[in-house]
Amino acid sequence: MKIVITGAAGQISYSLIPFLCERGVFSNDEKLDLALVEIPPAMNKLEGFVKELEDSAYSTVNSITTFDNINDAVEEADWCLLVGSIPRGIVFKGKEIKERADLLQINGNIFTEQGKAIGSKAKSNCKVLVVGNPANTNALIGQKNSNNPNQLWMAMTMLDALRAKAQVAKKINCHVDEIYRLAIFGNHSPTMFPDLENANFGGKNLYSKIGDKSWVENEFLPRIQQRGAEIIQARGASSASSAARAACDTVKNVENSTRSGDIFNAAIISDGSYGVAEGVFSGFPLISEGNGIIHIARDFNLSEFAKSKIKITSNELLEERELVRDLL
Ligand code: NAD
Ligand code: LMR
Repeated sequence: MKIVITGAAGQISYSLIPFLCERGVFSNDEKLDLALVEIPPAMNKLEGFVKELEDSAYSTVNSITTFDNINDAVEEADWCLLVGSIPRGIVFKGKEIKERADLLQINGNIFTEQGKAIGSKAKSNCKVLVVGNPANTNALIGQKNSNNPNQLWMAMTMLDALRAKAQVAKKINCHVDEIYRLAIFGNHSPTMFPDLENANFGGKNLYSKIGDKSWVENEFLPRIQQRGAEIIQARGASSASSAARAACDTVKNVENSTRSGDIFNAAIISDGSYGVAEGVFSGFPLISEGNGIIHIARDFNLSEFAKSKIKITSNELLEERELVRDLL
């Protein structure tokens, strides 16, 4: 199983790669061939990390190879985890990067080249997870440039789902694993919509169990939407350990069947479901049959409140798509 990871010397990858190398992420016992990609100035740092990975002596790993260009790295890849890109919260060319969408022009170009390389060289059933921000629209750029409809392109919304589960678990004093069907709709941005109305706890409706509309709308919602910014402010760097956990969880969910009665979260190309504009990458509740076969869960009932929130995030995705028209 060949796994390509870009941005391999960055802070997310420093947690992500060890997570991926633990047993139980992939459904079969195939050994992993890790292809780690960086830009030339970061190759020394990457070589240092590779020494650490070697010293970890993972029984799951067959080989570790480094690349300073995407084209050679993605040959016959089964998975591509596209993490490499610039995070917000820094000053770039004299301008402070405040929102993830501000990264569109900076990071967008990376995904045209990577999309072309993956489309022409990776396996025809390759699975791609875009983590680099703005993840949804970067995935759109990558997928369009790949020109290969059989490959599965996704953008990461799992972190938002984990954040939402953690906040709800604290609120009702339960374990995160007891929460089912908590879906993130839309963009991985402050417009995202975490839906509690279709979520379950102990086989009962979670929204009713919480029984606090004001908390859901005025505390929970903005907290999840702004959690990334909250972490940047506190840490002076964007989330890394939790982002790595979420990326690994996404891979695990795509490789293995979804537990009965549950869904998992990622953004995929919209077919117009749940009122999301067609042809943008949007978070949806997904069900996995394992081995990369996934589909949208169709049985969510949306209230007028939910529909109005999904419209906002869908419109934002359309606006982002307009901004990168020349890259599609
Ligand atoms: P980082 O700066 O620590 O690491 C990024 C790495 O990417 C750097 O080592 C850099 O050299 C490398 N890189 C840049 N351009 C590259 C290219 N063209 N090819 C290969 N490598 C390249 O950043 P990080 O904290 O690891 O975050 C990475 C990205 O993930 C950021 O865009 C961040 O905003 C995003 N992120 C997304 C989520 C999410 O939920 N979707 C969560 C957290 C962070
Ligand atoms: C996050 O949600 O933590 C990441 O997307 C990083 C960011 O810019 O907020």
